Amino acid sequence: MNMRGFFKKIVHPFLKIGLKLYYSKPRKYCYNSICIQVHPKVFPPHLTFSTKILLDFIQTLDLKSKTFLELGCGSGIIALFAAKKGALVTASDINPIAIDFLNKNAGKNYLSVTSVRSDLFDSIEEKSFDYIIINPPYYPKNPKNTSEKAWFCGANFEYFEKLFYQLKHEVNFQNTFMILSEDCAIERIKNIATKNRLTFELIICKTVFNEKNYIFSIN
Ligand SMILES: C[S@@+](CC[C@H](N)C(=O)[O-])C[C@H]1O[C@@H](n2cnc3c(N)ncnc32)[C@H](O)[C@@H]1O
Repeated sequence: MNMRGFFKKIVHPFLKIGLKLYYSKPRKYCYNSICIQVHPKVFPPHLTFSTKILLDFIQTLDLKSKTFLELGCGSGIIALFAAKKGALVTASDINPIAIDFLNKNAGKNYLSVTSVRSDLFDSIEEKSFDYIIINPPYYPKNPKNTSEKAWFCGANFEYFEKLFYQLKHEVNFQNTFMILSEDCAIERIKNIATKNRLTFELIICKTVFNEKNYIFSIN
């Protein structure tokens, strides 16, 4: 089971209480001298691997003066790091707490990003980007509230249905990268992309604690 699976399926009462206590208040997270506070109702980059793998990947990109969207930014650490690397950054999320904390964290780190609360591309006015980075929710279950949207993509993968439709029909993109884990229904997700005439190309496969994580380029 991967780390996200661990969080989702966690059943032992002591572990449950421990995690609840750990995430009962905002927690500090740092990368490359950027330090942020992560609200308990926002996706935690601390104990999952996907955010860190994406950050290390972004480290390798030349982002100077490139337009960059982090779609579903959560804590916003990726968006802030891209801004530090000189990108012109837009960061969006459906969770208003994520956007509120991102704005505060940007100020504290003297970094500038355009933040927007949006359901996927609905409220993002600019629809053309050099880079789009997506770490999606991928467990097939209907989220009960906004913070659960960090994990669950809808019982019928509604998040991916809408995302790939919008990418194909409404967005002008050059380089779009998505991280997925072997723990999720990659073939099902790829099929939704194919239905929208989008293809996945594997760019990176990284194994952390026996969990394979893939970064795909969407073309
Ligand atoms: C797995 S988390 C990734 C967060 C962050 N990108 C990272 O790598 O740490 C997925 C994020 O997508 C956001 N999200 C889920 N559904 C969304 C939607 N329909 N529109 C925009 N954001 C959404 C969640 O609120 C969450 O912040």
